[in-house]
Amino acid sequence: MTDGGRGRLIALEGIDGCGKSTQARLLADRLGALLTFEPGATALGRSLRSLLLDRDQPPVAERAEALLMVADRAQHLAEVVTPALEAGTWVVTDRYSASTLAYQGYGRGLDASGLHQLVAWATGGTDPDVTVLIDVPVDVAAARRRESHEDRFEAQGVQFQRRVAEGYQRLVTEATRPWLVVDGTGPVDEVAARVWSGVENCLGPEVGSER
Ligand code: TYD
Repeated sequence: MTDGGRGRLIALEGIDGCGKSTQARLLADRLGALLTFEPGATALGRSLRSLLLDRDQPPVAERAEALLMVADRAQHLAEVVTPALEAGTWVVTDRYSASTLAYQGYGRGLDASGLHQLVAWATGGTDPDVTVLIDVPVDVAAARRRESHEDRFEAQGVQFQRRVAEGYQRLVTEATRPWLVVDGTGPVDEVAARVWSGVENCLGPEVGSER
């Protein structure tokens, strides 16, 4: 979808196994938006994703992990997101800055103010027009994940996912930018309908006028 002005940026967020990748795809399809994701949507990002997520890669220190996540984002913005927004294209991204704040901040326990500064610096202030949290209980999300394909974060266990989930709730409470919390339990199409009506409410009638 493109229109005359700058495009809008919509980020989908949530714990591992919450279903946000499916919802990001459905939302992007319905909006006619560009669908993208983090980490790993660029050539550099694919290398970083492997270093960050593959369990057979050497250990990554927590601060290095945060820096590599935001490096992926800076490259993603430069190559994919910013050119699309400038061309008037709407963008749906499966994860964005809130993932760093939730996973590296609340999950790993890195200090929030440093991470906020790091994220702001890496994005140059490009914030989502709305961030959609697909809210699913930790045990429901755990049951949806297939253990044989666990990456480094999924392998951190339930306590880690619990801290990340609490982190997301804190981010929503403290947010200065629009967040939408969507109940992610139940059938895919029901969750998709909730996401759609929330986004429509948040971003206005433009969204509803089928594009
Ligand atoms: P994702 O691709 O959503 O996982 P999946 O392939 O299981 O759907 O995200 C990969 C992992 O990276 C996820 O566990 C969250 C983590 N992550 C961070 O820790 N910090 C970040 O800034 C980002 C973007 C992702």
